[in-house]
Parts: sequence; structure tokens; C-alpha cells
Amino acid sequence: MPDAPKLDTRHAHSARVYNYWLGGKDNFAADREAAEQAIAANPGIVADVRANREFLVRAVRFQAAECGVRQFLDIGAGLPTANNTHEVAQAVAPDARIVYVDNDPLVLSHARALLTSSPQGACDYIDADLRDPGKILREAARTLDFAEPVAITLIAILHHITDYDEARSIVKRLVEAVPSGSYLVISHSTNVICGAESDQAVARWNQFGKPPLTLRSLEEIAGFFDGLELLEPGLVSTPRWRPDATDIGGDLRDVDQFCAVGCKP
Ligand SMILES: C[S@@+](CC[C@H](N)C(=O)[O-])C[C@H]1O[C@@H](n2cnc3c(N)ncnc32)[C@H](O)[C@@H]1O
Repeated sequence: MPDAPKLDTRHAHSARVYNYWLGGKDNFAADREAAEQAIAANPGIVADVRANREFLVRAVRFQAAECGVRQFLDIGAGLPTANNTHEVAQAVAPDARIVYVDNDPLVLSHARALLTSSPQGACDYIDADLRDPGKILREAARTLDFAEPVAITLIAILHHITDYDEARSIVKRLVEAVPSGSYLVISHSTNVICGAESDQAVARWNQFGKPPLTLRSLEEIAGFFDGLELLEPGLVSTPRWRPDATDIGGDLRDVDQFCAVGCKP
């Protein structure tokens, strides 16, 4: 089982850099420096990250409102921000049950903000590594009923699992644990839109940041959904996944973060 990371303020960490890009205050000097370097390499990165977060909100709302999902397993929760998964799901379905998972010690120390469930629903937080799906499933069973559909959300986390076969087998293990009618929600970094600019931003991140990041092709990202039925519009750049009415007609800029939602038949 992987060792739990200790709070390391000397290196930039994914959750804290992401928090900086989202306008949060839970970050250290090394995080801010890496975040600014990434902005210098790719000035569009802040908009990309916000588009990713907006996808998370639309996808969770869609699952709760249109698919009747009442259970969410959000792995790679990140630092609490506006519109956390439980707030979005419970605004539609107050009885929704949400389990958050992350392995970052700072996220753990802020987890209380992720546990503000409605009285009718439930929230839990698991300090665990995605590479240990057995622990995640065992501990999530305290809150989730695995006989009922679950939406597994892996938003901007799978690109931190460097080995593709390992990443696929983790996803397979998680999907095997949920019943028919469950959903898999993924967003993942790629370089199909910006090419070398995205490659350079990632190379720079991997010099200073943790955990390392791996870009994948659209074929590889689609491979995570093998055996599932992709919902419309399929695998697309995050701003193009069921944009809100107010976004349509606006500037739906393609970004190097692609996403999809699959249903287990
Ligand atoms: C880029 S942030 C995304 C946060 C959130 N999902 C979102 O999209 O707004 C990635 C998150 O995944 C977490 N993470 C990265 N590798 C992980 C692993 N192996 N196990 C658990 N969490 C991990 C990081 O700590 C961080 O909070």
C-alpha cells in the first residue's frame, strides 16, 4: 500500500496549486511559484482549471437531477472551494450521500468543510490513495450502499497515475464494485488542443510539482470507459460537455482537459 504523503511545503502540490488557480488561499510559496510558472508557460491555464471545475458542477447536477443518482464517490476531492460535490448534489437531492477521498494532508486538515451535509443526506471523508481502491471501497461502504447506483467521479486525478495499465486497472476495480445504472465521470489532461504548449507546461510541472502529471491521448482516455455506455456528447473538451443555456452562444473555447460520463449497463 502506498505511503500517505506528509505535508510538504517545499514542493508544489496538485491540490494547493489548483486551489491557487481557483482563487483560494490554501497554498504555500512553492505552490504559488509553480502556479505562476505554469501560467507563464500557458496563460490559458486558469480558464482551463475553472472550466474543469464547472464541468464537475454540471456533471454532478446532471447526475442528481436527470439520472436520479443519490450516491457519489468523489476521488481526488481537492481543497474545499465553492460548489463542492455535496453542495451541488444536495441542492437537487437533499438525501444524497457523498464520500470524498484524497491523499493530501492539507485536504484532510480542511475536510470539515466537506462534511457539512444536509440533515437528510450524509457526507464522509476518506484519507486514502487512489492506488488503493480496496481501502476506498471498504471505507466508502460505511456511507454508500453498493447495491444501489453510485456515481464515481475522478475529476482531474487520473493523470496523476503515471502508468496507464495501473490507472485502467484501478478504474476497472472501482467500476466492478458498483451496480448496473452507476456512472463513471472523468476529466483528464491531454495535449490535443495546445500541443507543445501543454507538453511544456506539464514538463515544467513535473520538475517541481507533486504528484507528477501525465498527458494522455483521447484514445487512452476513452479506454477508461470500456464496457460503459458514453452519454451524449461523448468525450469532449470540458466546456463542451452539456454547457448551461447561458454558455451556449458564448465562447466555448476548447481546452486540453477532456471529459466524459459513462453509464454501467
Ligand atoms: C487537480 S486536483 C482536482 C480537484 C478536484 N477533483 C477538481 O477537479 O476540482 C487533484 C486532486 O487529486 C488528489 N490526488 C492526486 N493523486 C492522488 C492519489 N493518488 N490518491 C488520492 N488523491 C490524489 C490531489 O491531492 C488533489 O486534491
